[in-house]
Amino acid sequence: LKPVGIIGTGKYVPEKILTNSDLEKMVETSDEWIVSRTGIRERHIAAPEQATSDLAYEAAVRALESAGMTAEELDLIIIATITPDMAFPSTACILQDKLGAKGAAAFDLSAACSGFVYGLATATSFIQAGMYRNALVIGADCLSRITDYTDRNTCVLFGDGAGAVVLGEVPEGRGFKSFDLGAEGAGGPLLRLEAGGSRLPASAQTIENKLHYIYMNGREVFKFAVRVMGTATDVVLGKAGLDKSDIDVFIPHQANIRIIQSAMQRLDLPEDKVMINVDKYANTSAASIPLALVEAAEEGRMKAGDRVLMVGFGGGLTWGASVLVW
Ligand code: ACO
Repeated sequence: LKPVGIIGTGKYVPEKILTNSDLEKMVETSDEWIVSRTGIRERHIAAPEQATSDLAYEAAVRALESAGMTAEELDLIIIATITPDMAFPSTACILQDKLGAKGAAAFDLSAACSGFVYGLATATSFIQAGMYRNALVIGADCLSRITDYTDRNTCVLFGDGAGAVVLGEVPEGRGFKSFDLGAEGAGGPLLRLEAGGSRLPASAQTIENKLHYIYMNGREVFKFAVRVMGTATDVVLGKAGLDKSDIDVFIPHQANIRIIQSAMQRLDLPEDKVMINVDKYANTSAASIPLALVEAAEEGRMKAGDRVLMVGFGGGLTWGASVLVW
């Protein structure tokens, strides 16, 4: 199989910042509770006129520029999101038009916080199969649009943003070495947005019952997250023929600092090998891993040949992990 890797990166977060002290004025919570339970200090929130495709567009333009490519050269666009602009057309099609990527196939992918890694695996397989030469893979979400800001159990946890990468052929020895994607559909009810689909179309009643917002059983999702961060890591390292001591940079899904710390302990990783930005952006769902990856790249934390481990988990329930040689 030809080596496929990342040839361009870009990210975007909206300007507006919502701090823990802002939230103290909205619900009964405290900066101390939020920081000690989650590690989150602030999050970015989309402006009223911004939708997911607008965040994705900003990240995409930067990723194309960093790859030295024009939109016309793109073969495929995948957007991982659970907050599409609308049910259809897909956010990827809306973006295709905004970018002027006339030659690109475009579709959305729904795997919640694991969506970006699902997207990387999908695009890599397309390129390795010879169907496309390159792909723009974006994780983008506007969770603020599906968050109930009167519910302290969830409203402190989420933020908005987008991270984008361009995939293409890379020199031998580099690129993606392994993937592990998985799902436990039986756990779906633990983390869901019930209404607005074909099961429960929007109605006055679904609005009154707040069924257009995220529902989460935090404790159960926490347990799932700690478990699959461990098992998925073992699988991708094994498939890549690597040991935990071979990891140079660890990019975990940024949901909760305690979940990240438990993964670090299990992997015996010092803090300087772990990308953490949950304090600035909170949980941005599909955007979380690409925001961390792109920020790590921009900060010069990765040098050519470094082995990068990415692991995500989220609604579905799903997980996705990958080993990449930078
Ligand atoms: N401020 C103050 N108190 C709060 C807040 C808040 N913002 N939120 C909840 N509490 C209270 C609750 O009411 C509850 O009180 P009670 O015990 O009197 O009922 C108590 O704090 C809850 O405490 P714990 O259950 O011990 O909280 P925990 O340590 O589990 O932390 C948290 C909660 C942060 C939600 C954690 O469970 C978590 O991070 N879970 C994982 C979430 C996650 O990773 N989701 C990722 C997927 S998201 C996606 O896919 C879109």
